Amino acid sequence: MNNFELYNPTKIIFGKGEIAKLKNEIPKDASVLLLFGGGSIKKNGVYEQVASALEGHKWQEFGGIPPNPEYHVLLKALEIIKKEKITYLLAVGGGSVIDGTKFLSSAALYEGEEPWDILAKRIRTEVGMPFGTVLTLPATGSEMNSGAVVTNDKTEEKVGMGGPGLFPQFSILDPSVVTSIPERQIANGLADSFTHVLEQYMTYPVDALLQDRLSESVLSSIIETAPRIMEDTSDYKSAANFMWNCTMALNGLIQKGVPTDWAIHMMGHELTAFYGIDHARTLAILTKNHYTYNLKSKQAKLAQCAERVFGITEGDEKEKAEACIEAIEEFYLSLGISTTLSSYTDNFEGTAQKIAKRFTERGWTAIGEHGKLTPHDVEHIVEMSY
Ligand code: NZQ
Ligand code: ZN
Repeated sequence: MNNFELYNPTKIIFGKGEIAKLKNEIPKDASVLLLFGGGSIKKNGVYEQVASALEGHKWQEFGGIPPNPEYHVLLKALEIIKKEKITYLLAVGGGSVIDGTKFLSSAALYEGEEPWDILAKRIRTEVGMPFGTVLTLPATGSEMNSGAVVTNDKTEEKVGMGGPGLFPQFSILDPSVVTSIPERQIANGLADSFTHVLEQYMTYPVDALLQDRLSESVLSSIIETAPRIMEDTSDYKSAANFMWNCTMALNGLIQKGVPTDWAIHMMGHELTAFYGIDHARTLAILTKNHYTYNLKSKQAKLAQCAERVFGITEGDEKEKAEACIEAIEEFYLSLGISTTLSSYTDNFEGTAQKIAKRFTERGWTAIGEHGKLTPHDVEHIVEMSY
């Protein structure tokens, strides 16, 4: 097992009817800005619950944060934060609203001229404006981690940021919110959380017995929950499992003491930046090809996953590893998610070269768990995904 430090200060409040508790979590003298997306919260009753919990607080709202939170939209919220002397942010939404709020938490206290530098220069956020979240879409784990991804439409970039100052102070997870989520987003949440576990598990063994078993449990639980929640979003029992699976997949716990990959996410973010493909779907496009291309270095963990998660016992290690890659692909397909780039855009020629060029320019020349994947390898993997 590798050395590690574990720090996670986010308080989770989980369960039916718990949104009302946010009034106890936000300081009484705070000046609150409630941030939300395109308006789903105004149709499904979440907005009313939040507004009623905020009675007694001084608050105002900013709506319209789009999926893949856009930098120029966020700058408008930043103006309000400064002009209105906001002291506390409350994100009510999915990963995009929470990530947008994390950017604002950082930018509100940033002293430089150009807030984009936080992303472009990879400036870690040690201290941000305090914020809490009410999660409406299980998927990213952003409600309990300190990372965020922001999009710049003008430059077609999607860039990550983070730091210990960006953990939410609290997150309220009421599985009842799942009822109104459209099928496409349910499938996205299942595929994204599944791939989060893979990125932290499908590397090479380091004798981290508990971490392996934890990851395998989250994978198995996602597989078990998937058909039930796809069938009926109003099934509270399934919604509760779906929600907690997604949080556990990326709250930092399962990656402690083990190597991590994240190459699928690095490549996937480029596909969203270029073509606007939903984040989770970019991962489904790349995973099979990434694992096939890197079969040798990932074979032991792939075979272990085949046995423990998919119950595949036939064949030697290589055969089990290959069967695992097929089973993973089958899982994405079972959610109705297409796994080729050409099923999302006709304009795919040259994508692999463009992505490899960007990676070279950014100095991302040695990625993956071994730090050995070059832009040349990335080009191959993306090309295999057409
Ligand atoms: O905007 P509204 O109207 O609220 O509608 C949203 C949006 O259109 C809708 N939705 C959310 N909750 C709903 C609902 N519709 C009905 N009922 C509800 N209860 O769902 C749509 C998608 O929302 P979005 O927040 O974009 O989805 P998701 O949670 O999948 O977030 C994706 C973003 O998170 C980033 C992705 O790159 C992407 O930008 N990620 C963030 C990570 C992190 N911070 O740790 C890790 C991930 O790997 C990922 O990169
Ligand atoms: Zn993801």
